[in-house]
Amino acid sequence: SGPQLYQQNCAFCHGDNGQGRPGAFPPLAAHATELAKTPEGRAHLINVMLFGMQGPVRVRGSTYNGVMPAFGQLSDEQIASILNYILNAWGNDKLLPRDHRPITAAEVRSARNATSRPTPQQIGDLRSRINVP
Ligand code: HEM
Repeated sequence: SGPQLYQQNCAFCHGDNGQGRPGAFPPLAAHATELAKTPEGRAHLINVMLFGMQGPVRVRGSTYNGVMPAFGQLSDEQIASILNYILNAWGNDKLLPRDHRPITAAEVRSARNATSRPTPQQIGDLRSRINVP
């Protein structure tokens, strides 16, 4: 389930409550939802999970420059579950756009099967063009 998968795969870095770790791991609480507001951000959430990410990223006023490992070994369903969990946990549900729709396994599958898969570096570069507050 989403909470269990989060605990097993993500909490070590992003924290039990999605709070992150200052200077090292960006928070997901009050942040993952910012990425759910645009199609590019939504695609980014999926790509980060499948392929990882590296390069500087600005999140809620702090810059992070680390490496996020890929979780492509998880199934499409598991990745969708984790993303839907982080988009709704810790009060994030109240920050989602009104027209938000849950991320589906089919969306994850099509990103996984894309003919050109982005590298972690490319995902970082694309991220820098997504404006979040
Ligand atoms: C970035 C989620 C596991 C370290 C991110 C981002 C998301 C995310 C959505 C992008 C933030 C943004 O672009 O604004 C998750 C989830 C995980 C997970 C759901 C579990 C499947 C981990 C683990 C680590 C980690 C285990 C540490 C080993 C990082 C780092 C970044 C990041 C360092 C920033 C990368 C950069 O500086 O370019 N994570 N993460 N994450 N994550 Fe994770």
